Amino acid sequence: MATTTLKLDNKELTLPVITGSEGEKAIDIRNLRQESGYITYDDGYGNTGACLSNVTFIDGEAGILRYRGYPIEQLAEQSSFIEVAYLIIYGELPTNVQRSRFSALLTEHAPLREGVIRFIQGFPRDSHPMALLSSSFNALGAYYPHLVSNTLNIDGAHFDEGAAIAISKVRTIAAHSYRVSRGGRLNYPNPDLGYCENFLHLMFSEPYRDYVAKPEVAAALNLFLLLHADHEQNCSTSTVRMVASAGANLFASVSSGVNALWGPLHGGANMAVIDMLKHIHADGDDGTRFIQAAKTGKGDRLMGFGHRVYKHYDPRAAIIKKSFYKALASLGIKDDPLLNIAMKLEEVALSDDYFVSRKLYPNVDFYSGLIMRAIGIPENMFTVMFAIGRMPGWVAHWHEVASTPKLKIHRPRQIYMGPAKRDFVPVNKRR
Ligand code: CMC
Repeated sequence: MATTTLKLDNKELTLPVITGSEGEKAIDIRNLRQESGYITYDDGYGNTGACLSNVTFIDGEAGILRYRGYPIEQLAEQSSFIEVAYLIIYGELPTNVQRSRFSALLTEHAPLREGVIRFIQGFPRDSHPMALLSSSFNALGAYYPHLVSNTLNIDGAHFDEGAAIAISKVRTIAAHSYRVSRGGRLNYPNPDLGYCENFLHLMFSEPYRDYVAKPEVAAALNLFLLLHADHEQNCSTSTVRMVASAGANLFASVSSGVNALWGPLHGGANMAVIDMLKHIHADGDDGTRFIQAAKTGKGDRLMGFGHRVYKHYDPRAAIIKKSFYKALASLGIKDDPLLNIAMKLEEVALSDDYFVSRKLYPNVDFYSGLIMRAIGIPENMFTVMFAIGRMPGWVAHWHEVASTPKLKIHRPRQIYMGPAKRDFVPVNKRR
């Protein structure tokens, strides 16, 4: 076993070194506190490996993203969201038989129980769809007692059922929440449609007027979902893993992930990008003034730029950008003022020392909001779309934690910086 030494208070400690399958190195500090009294401090976990995982590999410096070893570029070009979902959850690409069985399970679990529909319909019309999604997802647990009573449904038919419910129902809940917000009639899943086409039907079909998705629109949605399917230890996935480490069931763990994703620094960024572009447009700016303000640290951040891990062009952004123009052309969108501003922002930022020196490049959200907007997804649904895409990753990470032999609850330490011990003062003696 490889080791390294660390000198602390004139004492030399030998610590094991772990090497990942892509050569990543980590110092195993699990016994550091017992041996030296020290813990490590890493605000925001930027330099902490919180787990060993087999799902996704990212090299942020080189702009590499792979799901279960397969490069994202190859999957985006040759696979589909559903096939990738299977890969992420089960670890291997499905055979024909496995793929058909998975699709059949997704179809079987697409409709919601009447009680869940009534629950969704009980929300105020102006509810944020992310509030609705996380609550409804948690509520699903009430309808599948056999999947929550034994919290570790990690193998066999129970896991397959839970995974299919998660992947399929997230789409139905999302579309129903949109229909409720518009006061419109709910559409029911059509078993003859593919995953993306079915989602668009659930969202946009009207009485006597079925929405038939253009192939380019379904393909753009498929790509969007595929590119979001997993992203290793991001905020929402780490949340899912944290909750799972307490032994919590799949629905409870995933609904916590939905809430984490809601934040504008995470999944809310795609919506924030569109808001930003609209503001810039309304101010009569072409993006130049906004960039100047973002650089002072006093103005708003340039949303859709920067990433904790990527210090290079986000590979998902590169893929989505390439397909972006194709999708826009097929939708007949030639000259969109927000798109023009986005292009200007990118051009200016990529040649500005502030952004270059901090390695701030466009991330996937810089383009994904524009694509969602082009295919008619309302803005307050953007983060919900991200959640639909991320579901396979959350399921896979839940499974990885839940199936760990001798499951260990996640419990970080802290460095207490509050007042030192002091004695209680009765209220009449306080000044
Ligand atoms: N615009 C302007 N300045 C920025 C930006 C930005 N978007 N992002 C980072 N900076 C600056 C920041 O002010 C700091 O400058 P200084 O060193 O002078 O203090 C430096 O760059 C490092 O920033 P940080 O906040 O320490 O970086 P981080 O790794 O903690 O944050 C981030 C990563 C994604 C939260 C951040 O870049 C950000 O807020 N970006 C905009 C929001 C966004 O697009 N989020 C989507 C992320 S991709 C989707 C996902 O995977 O969740």
